[in-house]
Amino acid sequence: MDAHQFLVNSSLQFIEKASFTWQTPSNIALVKYWGKSEPQIPKNASISFTLNNCHTITTIEFEKIEKSDSVQFDMYFEGKKNEDFKPKIAKFFQRIAEYCPYIFEYKMIIHSQNSFPHSSGIASSASGLSAIAMCLTSLEQQLIPALNSDFVTKKASFLARLGSGSASRSIEGPLVVWGNHPEIEGSSDLFAVPFPHTIHSIFENYQDVILLVDKGEKQVSSTVGHELMHNHPFAENRFQQANENLTKLSKILQNGDIKNFINLVESEALTLHAMMLTSNPYFILMKPNTLEIIQKIWKYRSENQSNICFTLDAGANVHVLFPENEKQNVLQFIENELASFCHKNEYICDSVGFGAKKLENIKVR
Ligand code: PMV
Repeated sequence: MDAHQFLVNSSLQFIEKASFTWQTPSNIALVKYWGKSEPQIPKNASISFTLNNCHTITTIEFEKIEKSDSVQFDMYFEGKKNEDFKPKIAKFFQRIAEYCPYIFEYKMIIHSQNSFPHSSGIASSASGLSAIAMCLTSLEQQLIPALNSDFVTKKASFLARLGSGSASRSIEGPLVVWGNHPEIEGSSDLFAVPFPHTIHSIFENYQDVILLVDKGEKQVSSTVGHELMHNHPFAENRFQQANENLTKLSKILQNGDIKNFINLVESEALTLHAMMLTSNPYFILMKPNTLEIIQKIWKYRSENQSNICFTLDAGANVHVLFPENEKQNVLQFIENELASFCHKNEYICDSVGFGAKKLENIKVR
């Protein structure tokens, strides 16, 4: 499937007004995407757990206008008009305009809110952009009633990807693959697909507690980080390793080999940060407390025969992953021994979720 499939070729049955509300999740990668080429094509395939509690809810109200040369929209975040997010969203609209020509024919009022604190260091681009993508594809489905829902889901992931790569993985769940990979049938660099195999019961309802180590603005954005993978001395090996890790993880997820799951997931997290340490210019996003937490997790694991492990995204926060049957003990451990390493002792308890949800009769204001 190439990108042409997502152009609008049918005639549009315009409507005067419409409003859609979508709740879309954040996700946490197990095999990481780090490095891309234009237009937002990943250098390797990645796989993530879709989250359940960390999400964005967005309403877009569409009102038909005379066709305009620029996209007309207002952005409200948590009830207040927000000019800070506008440039990023305007850029997103520019990138998707050829695939969504109808955005020039509607005035859009966007109201959005996150379930997690905005300054928590949890990336809101994945959930935020996937929510906008779902609202747009809902409109498209009204304008072209013949579209089938499978295509609409793929197109939403395709559009979200053009905003932020990892956002492509925030449409479905519980495990999602983005990037062409020989062993994942239907996988594509253009959009994400659900992991196609049955997963072992140990990975069902997997838990993710996000330890908020640092709530500040990241010193180096992921855009810059991806950029630094061009001419990176280890880039080619890294891309190959990630694809091999996805092959291994695919088997592990099916056979329930949790020891190898832990090994692979932690190695992926540290390798992501190793790419940052060895970029030029080099940078460090982990904080001293990130390392303290990692040491504590390793100690707890060996002393308690636990299957707890960690992963990291492009920041200092730590995602603590564990099977549901360890929930009680691990939550106690986190409260007693890890919370003190978090900013204001804050952490978010989450678990694996199933993707975007349309909220009927609800509007974010
Ligand atoms: O989607 P971006 O451009 O913000 O990149 C995200 C990269 C990581 O979160 C570090 C890894 C991943 O696969 O989500």
